[in-house]
Amino acid sequence: MNADNNCIVIFGASGDLTYRKLIPALYDLYSIGRLTENFSVLGVARSEFSDETFREKMRGALLEAGNESSEMLEKFCSHLYYQAVNTSDSNDYGKLVPRLAELHELYQTQGNTLYYLSTPPSLYGIIPECLAAHGLNTEENGWKRLIVEKPFGYDIETAKALDIQIHHYFAEHQIYRIDHYLGKETVQNLLVLRFSNGLFEPLWNRNFIDYVEITGAEAIGVGDRGGYYDGSGAMRDMFQNHLLQVLAMVAMEPPAIINADSMRDEVAKVLHCLHPLNTETVKHNLVLGQYTSAEINGEKVKGYLEEKGVPAESSTETYMALRCEIDNWRWAGVPFYVRSGKRLPTRVTEIVIHFKTTPHPVFSQNAPDNKLIIRIQPDEGISMRFGLKKPGSGFDSKEVSMDFSYADLASPNLLTAYERLLLDAMKGDATLFARTDAVHACWKFVEPILAYKKNGGRVYDYEAGTWGPKEADRLIAKEGKVWRRPSGKMKKKV
Ligand code: NDP
Ligand code: BG6
Repeated sequence: MNADNNCIVIFGASGDLTYRKLIPALYDLYSIGRLTENFSVLGVARSEFSDETFREKMRGALLEAGNESSEMLEKFCSHLYYQAVNTSDSNDYGKLVPRLAELHELYQTQGNTLYYLSTPPSLYGIIPECLAAHGLNTEENGWKRLIVEKPFGYDIETAKALDIQIHHYFAEHQIYRIDHYLGKETVQNLLVLRFSNGLFEPLWNRNFIDYVEITGAEAIGVGDRGGYYDGSGAMRDMFQNHLLQVLAMVAMEPPAIINADSMRDEVAKVLHCLHPLNTETVKHNLVLGQYTSAEINGEKVKGYLEEKGVPAESSTETYMALRCEIDNWRWAGVPFYVRSGKRLPTRVTEIVIHFKTTPHPVFSQNAPDNKLIIRIQPDEGISMRFGLKKPGSGFDSKEVSMDFSYADLASPNLLTAYERLLLDAMKGDATLFARTDAVHACWKFVEPILAYKKNGGRVYDYEAGTWGPKEADRLIAKEGKVWRRPSGKMKKKV
């Protein structure tokens, strides 16, 4: 299904996200025919641009994203418009009324409008109010939808307050809280793997699974984003949203049907079952770290405290490792180890399901564990690891693997996360957007961790280019487990 005819209003159109992700994603959708000709983009920010200078800037974004200059690209750019608005002055939003009316008329978009909030988060509550002051939120003439970028709040209280603020002007069915991890093809594949195969689902529980590892590792540091990152840290930047959503996909019950409510009910249910931490237990289940300078491949890499925009005394964590449990019938007693960090040895996001060993070791004391490795990125795929007989005399076993690479299935029109989510929002499909109860459940779960941080909880150093502080290894070793050390490539040489 293609997008409805509509006008997309991007607030924050002069910013980084619009430049690097949103406009390239819209262009890709356009070039594969998923947008009708009846669409327009109205960029909004405080900076002054004319339609033409805005188009010029976005043309640059598309070329930088690897597109070739072409007739198609020019045609797409002709759908782009710009309106400067002082985003903190409600009256100034009045300028959008005639601009939108004109675009709806020109493109026959029946008043359908998708607002994308890609501004500093402090404006996420203000923009809906200012739109409503000019009647730009009502659905009497076409649908009005609001995509809200992360972070949705700073903690549970601010997330709730933001919800209240937005709900004054937009109903829940109009609000699309974006978490780009949910738009990743391989995250969605997790559900298909689990729920369309008789092979896996019967084993997917406490009776057969020993523990689960979830890793979101990045090789890059904070780069130019020190100013933002220092107020956030790995806990808010990666764990509270992306990794908890991935955990929910691993652990949720099968939805009765695939639609937004059914799916999001199950996601919310499992997040509500996360075993709550408290001031005492958090100390034994959490390790925080911060990278220090190092030499990687002969190149000196800055430590976090030397990065631009980071205060010299900062104790913000760039690494987190957490042991959590889910209090429900399926998962009681199964540890979920989740870790994420910047400046780790490689970029990899993966889930490892460690199955229990056989009840009696007939062949060898050190037979390898059975593992299912689900690689979200890069080198997307699935690898099953199990033991087989070592050739030769005796009955010793060795680990072998069966590998599936997602690239073997790849269609040339595979959508990236932002493409998929933008298209879904234009079709009115909220299945892959976070619902308010799930967002609150995530914030509630991390509350004791945020309090621990705030109260000076220990942050260990780790050298850039390593797998985080040694304390994280100890966290998992307490239960006789070890973290997998994944490499950029998943395939195992047997
Ligand atoms: P930028 O700082 O690059 O852009 C912010 C945009 O908001 C600019 O267009 C700015 O333009 C506009 N703006 C409007 N009003 C204000 C104001 N009062 N103060 C400051 N800026 C204002 O941010 P990003 O594009 O990187 O990020 C936008 C949002 O998306 C953020 O909330 C961020 O957390 C989120 N996000 C970004 C990601 C990324 O990769 N960049 C990834 C995931 C989320 P002007 O000054 O002309 O008004
Ligand atoms: C963003 C975080 O939401 O996700 C970044 O703000 C992080 O710090 C990024 O680098 C990771 O996304 P991806 O898709 O590259 O794994």
